[in-house]
Amino acid sequence: MTQPLPPEFLDIATGLLQTPATIAPKYFYDARGSALFEEITRLPEYYPTRTENAIMATHAQAMAQAIGPGGTVIELGAGNCQKARALCECIQARHYVAVDISEAFMREAVAGMRAAFPALPIDAVVADITTGWALPAHVPKGQRLVFYPGSSIGNFDPPQAQALLSSMRGVLGMEGALLIGVDLVKDTAVLNAAYDDAAGVTAAFNRNMLDHVSRLIGADFDARQWLHRAFFNAAQSRIEMHLEAAQDVDVTWLGGARHFAQGERIHTENSYKYRVNDFVALLRQAGFAQTQVWMDAQQWFAVVLARP
Ligand SMILES: C[S@@+](CC[C@H](N)C(=O)[O-])C[C@H]1O[C@@H](n2cnc3c(N)ncnc32)[C@H](O)[C@@H]1O
Repeated sequence: MTQPLPPEFLDIATGLLQTPATIAPKYFYDARGSALFEEITRLPEYYPTRTENAIMATHAQAMAQAIGPGGTVIELGAGNCQKARALCECIQARHYVAVDISEAFMREAVAGMRAAFPALPIDAVVADITTGWALPAHVPKGQRLVFYPGSSIGNFDPPQAQALLSSMRGVLGMEGALLIGVDLVKDTAVLNAAYDDAAGVTAAFNRNMLDHVSRLIGADFDARQWLHRAFFNAAQSRIEMHLEAAQDVDVTWLGGARHFAQGERIHTENSYKYRVNDFVALLRQAGFAQTQVWMDAQQWFAVVLARP
């Protein structure tokens, strides 16, 4: 008897049956995907992590002053928690909560965070921030700082991003703030190289999604039959990542199947690049009336502090 498709992964089957097929970028992140992403952040072509870290280091004092001391840092898509280390130190946080979908990788990162900050209360919440999720009841309600670095907001189209930002307002309350990293429009060659590195790590990251999805929905993808494609779509102001069938491919999963002709693609990621004024306008539409922006000298990346 065939097992039914787990209902929480119905969106994967639905996306695979669309034309063009899609898989949501949250499925990049099993333990291997998270480790590959960490490797990407160290690549010479991948400027966002380096640039965001440099902005936060350069403006640490101004940011600490604007945020105020002693709050609770709630980091969404925490990954390896590296960026939170400097932030928690600089604002003398009194509580830290890491939220991430990639359980094993986050638990290890949080263990490292606990070792580095033995006196700081720390929680790890395994959750998909695009669906209903909740903080543990004991997390202090006052002075919350939602921290969403890495330009992950770029994975959502502007209406979805606005909805997600509005939902963050609910988490931080009226006296809290949001500190968010956003990647900015820049030279196309710089953007393309950041998502298609010479060493092929981003290609491995993209293909790994097929192994992850195969486990989740009982599919028989063979990642070796798929090519990594990444390019800047200027009309939409976004990097697109796709997996392209290198040959005709038949894929089956629990309760479904699809034929992909050679050259057909699965759209795996969008990463929207903003002009800083457009992002501030998006924050306004999401109910954040006050904003402060810090950027690097080349204006490649912005870190924005926003309050309701
Ligand atoms: C681009 S990485 C950024 C990691 C880290 N914050 C940084 O700035 O380097 C995105 C992170 O968000 C997590 N993530 C992706 N989609 C998510 C979702 N829907 N809910 C919760 N976490 C998610 C991934 O597991 C990953 O750790």
